[in-house]
Amino acid sequence: MAALKGRNLLSMADLTADEMSHLLTTAARIKSGEINPQCPQKILGLVFKKASTRTRVSFSAAMYKLGGQVIDLNANLTQIGRGEPTADTARVLDRYLDVLAIRTYEQAEVEEFAQHSTIPIINALTDREHPCQILADLLTVQEEFGHCEGLTMTYLGDGNNVAHSLILGCALMGMNVRIATPKGYEPESAIVKEAEKLAQGRSQVVVTDDPKAAIEGAHTLYTDVWASMGQEDLAAKRIPIFEPYQINAAAMALADAKAIVLHCLPAHRGEEITAEVMEGSQSRIWDEVENRMHAQQALLAAVLGAA
Ligand code: CP
Ligand code: NVA
Repeated sequence: MAALKGRNLLSMADLTADEMSHLLTTAARIKSGEINPQCPQKILGLVFKKASTRTRVSFSAAMYKLGGQVIDLNANLTQIGRGEPTADTARVLDRYLDVLAIRTYEQAEVEEFAQHSTIPIINALTDREHPCQILADLLTVQEEFGHCEGLTMTYLGDGNNVAHSLILGCALMGMNVRIATPKGYEPESAIVKEAEKLAQGRSQVVVTDDPKAAIEGAHTLYTDVWASMGQEDLAAKRIPIFEPYQINAAAMALADAKAIVLHCLPAHRGEEITAEVMEGSQSRIWDEVENRMHAQQALLAAVLGAA
């Protein structure tokens, strides 16, 4: 899709519904072997200031499958770790690379990179959003049900980065989204408002502190850790607060009989999800993991003008 060539993905809301559909279709066609877009000699840079297994490896594998190369810009081995200004780093990397994926804390930092770059900048997770994760999640829903529109996605737990991108992504795809969090842990209201606008009346966005009401009849249950990277010191205090929001057998029984379960991983078994549900017949978590690579291959191909 020509419209995606050269574009950034800083927020899930940077995509239109058509662009999201195009990416999901492209990812499915890549996965099935129907197409094999190539970007020979293109170089992807990775600037990761937080730990990552899936995102780092799936982006690297995706770029190699496109015939390109990857440079891992470990912050501690570059001047990034010594505090070189973002505007300078961005302008330097812009001269060497074709696309750059960044994992960091502040959303403002990926925005600053984008402001000083001509190459596509991809948000590989910030404290505010994790759009690449949600591309894989919606691909997994589409694989299971054949479509997203009209279905209900229920997210239980912390109103965090993953929840934010999920709300926006579901709204774009016309999927109802229910977010159940303890009081005080809701998603940002600006994100909810933006999602309502994106949904254009096709689907609903509900935020509640009632997990049972949120789960009832849902087609997909989704959760994430109760304390994200950078919040490790809050983890113990949160466990009793979040306990009613665990995805377990009782929660599954309230969802639609054909419901599937997703988790972005890494998971804390016995906290946000039980081992039984993770390994159970309704879990699609390992397909979701695989789909990170196919979705990002489609995304990289699209922003590099090859799909
Ligand atoms: N889901 C996800 O982004 O995992 P990593 O932190 O391992 O990249
Ligand atoms: N919310 C989690 C997601 C990890 C992929 C975090 O930010 O740590």
